[in-house]
Amino acid sequence: MARALADHIAIVTGSASGIGRAIATRLIEAGARVVIADRNLDGAHAVAAALGEKAVAVAVDVSDEHAVAGMVERCREAFGDCTLLVNNAGIVQQGRFETLGVSDWDRMIAVHLRGTFLCTHAVIGPMLAAGDGVIINMASQLGQIGGVELSHYSAAKAGIIGFTKSLARELSTRGVRVNAVAPGPIATELSMSLSEEWRRTKTAELPLGRFGEPEDVAETVAFLASPAAKIYVGQTLCPNSGDVML
Ligand code: NAI
Repeated sequence: MARALADHIAIVTGSASGIGRAIATRLIEAGARVVIADRNLDGAHAVAAALGEKAVAVAVDVSDEHAVAGMVERCREAFGDCTLLVNNAGIVQQGRFETLGVSDWDRMIAVHLRGTFLCTHAVIGPMLAAGDGVIINMASQLGQIGGVELSHYSAAKAGIIGFTKSLARELSTRGVRVNAVAPGPIATELSMSLSEEWRRTKTAELPLGRFGEPEDVAETVAFLASPAAKIYVGQTLCPNSGDVML
């Protein structure tokens, strides 16, 4: 039997702002308990305080193995073993390929791919032991179609989609469902940090004519985490204003 949304013990990385905060809020509204995990501890505390006793804040850099172990331990102390992991933490950086340094590349891959690997690895033991767990990975449509001056970001997000499919094939018969979400442009601090020209051009291209809101992505995550999505395995759902039609 798939676990009801209200019964989940969730960790949402990068939930001090933007899409992660909306996901945490949506899960708490549904009755789940949620660890607000972010490298911005003040922001995480503010979100947790606003969400009440079903939320707890923890500082984490998802690319740091020890910090990730601490995050999972904090979840266990506060609520019990994590049953729902949302790998959402992310960064963006625009830059012509020839100007990108090795450190830019390494940081992008570390936060998105290494971070997704580390957090998943840290929660998977109890999930497999219980035969019960949900993993949701935040990709991006740029991992599907690529993006100009976003080669490292797009590569990391494409990697997350490949990781999701492989893990889903490996784990779904053992009770752990793994899926991804690939949003189009969503109005958050991250997308606002991209150039104004990019945002203007992108808005004009969108069939819906506007960016999505963080709550649109949160709704997709809530669905994937719920028993209603029990047949979804290794899928990439696309809340994207119609930008990419697969
Ligand atoms: P945001 O910048 O509002 O939030 C990202 C959060 O992740 C921040 O709170 C930040 O402190 C945290 N974070 C960054 N690096 C971290 C690390 N190493 N460890 C722990 N926390 C860290 O960004 P937004 O837009 O909410 O993005 C969330 C996710 O959605 C990201 O993975 C992003 O790539 C993805 N996404 C965003 C889109 C958009 O248009 N905003 C479109 C497609 C995907």
